[in-house]
Amino acid sequence: MPDTLTFTHIPTPTPTPAAEREAILAKGGFGTAFSDHMVTIEWTEGRGWHDAQIRKREPFQIDPAAAVLHYAQEIFEGLKAYRAESGGVTLFRADQNAKRLNNSATRLAMPQLPEASFLEAVESLVRIDKDWIPGGNGSLYLRPFMFANEPFLGVRPAHHFIFSVIASPVGDYFKHGPKPVNVWLSKEYTRAAVGGTGAAKCGGNYAASLIAQGQAYDNGCDQVLFLDAAEHRWIEELGGMNIFFVRDDGSLFTTPLGTILPGITRASLIELATSKGIQVEERKYSFEEFQADAQSGKVTEAFACGTAAVLAAIGEIRFTGGSFKIGDGNGGPLTATLRDELVGIQRGRIADTRGWVRKVL
Ligand code: PLP
Ligand code: COI
Repeated sequence: MPDTLTFTHIPTPTPTPAAEREAILAKGGFGTAFSDHMVTIEWTEGRGWHDAQIRKREPFQIDPAAAVLHYAQEIFEGLKAYRAESGGVTLFRADQNAKRLNNSATRLAMPQLPEASFLEAVESLVRIDKDWIPGGNGSLYLRPFMFANEPFLGVRPAHHFIFSVIASPVGDYFKHGPKPVNVWLSKEYTRAAVGGTGAAKCGGNYAASLIAQGQAYDNGCDQVLFLDAAEHRWIEELGGMNIFFVRDDGSLFTTPLGTILPGITRASLIELATSKGIQVEERKYSFEEFQADAQSGKVTEAFACGTAAVLAAIGEIRFTGGSFKIGDGNGGPLTATLRDELVGIQRGRIADTRGWVRKVL
């Protein structure tokens, strides 16, 4: 199989009129509006990847027997294109998304997409839909995904897949903007078990999280916190974000990899904090210990992090029969410093010394 694919560009004959697009961009929010184009690449057993296209965004023709609709053979990624403050358009660590997609593909018995083709797909879409990148604090959220579209009801890895990328202009992930989030502890449901798919970014993980996410909303919370599946004791991660904690001595810690999604934001923050001389630990942390530490003041801050959410302070934890605040419930200084540093690099306000920022335009 060749390492790079040739993409055919077919611009939409009906682009959204500029005034309509600007009105959409002004609305902000997350994941409700979409740009004019999409990428599609097909994969068939024996032939590999073919028919790479950048074309008008439109619904897929999908057979009702397509494997994804029955057995959820689907994976995805999430990354953002930014309008750099100095002009130009950039991506943040897109190579890491390409690698993680392939790790997810391995776990879900799906084909590998060469990293160069992933990057070309994403960058070509950003270039053709550059007018959809909001200014200010907004960005163009890119959603690469792959699914099994072979019409076959036998249970086995499919023989036909589609890789696609769509783009959505976004503002804040949380409706209430940058104020601290409340988090609901799910005592009943877990997200991932050892040997399961927790470390893969597959749709099935999110499907399994939705009942608990619904309970979070019912209890006035923005996100759900999952504990480990074996003991219901160890903190894992949130429905769509990783979690960090700050101690009263200024050190930082987060939960270990294994059954959680290896967040690119998580890895970047570990590196940024370490290089600022902050001690960072990856350790198992029980919910009982967290509650005791928050109540005694030993843990002074906690935050959620991910591409969509960036870095959001956690104000309060709620659960059946109780709740507690982290610090005074209003976030804290290390959360704010790390957010400024990360966003500064992503937006080109702070020099990128690590080769994380990729110029697209
Ligand atoms: N954990 C889960 C379950 C997620 O959905 C995400 C978001 O992608 C993350 C963590 C954070 O990952 P990243 O920082 O790569 O966006
Ligand atoms: C992302 O941050 O990219 C995610 O996929 C998480 C989801 C909450 C949108």
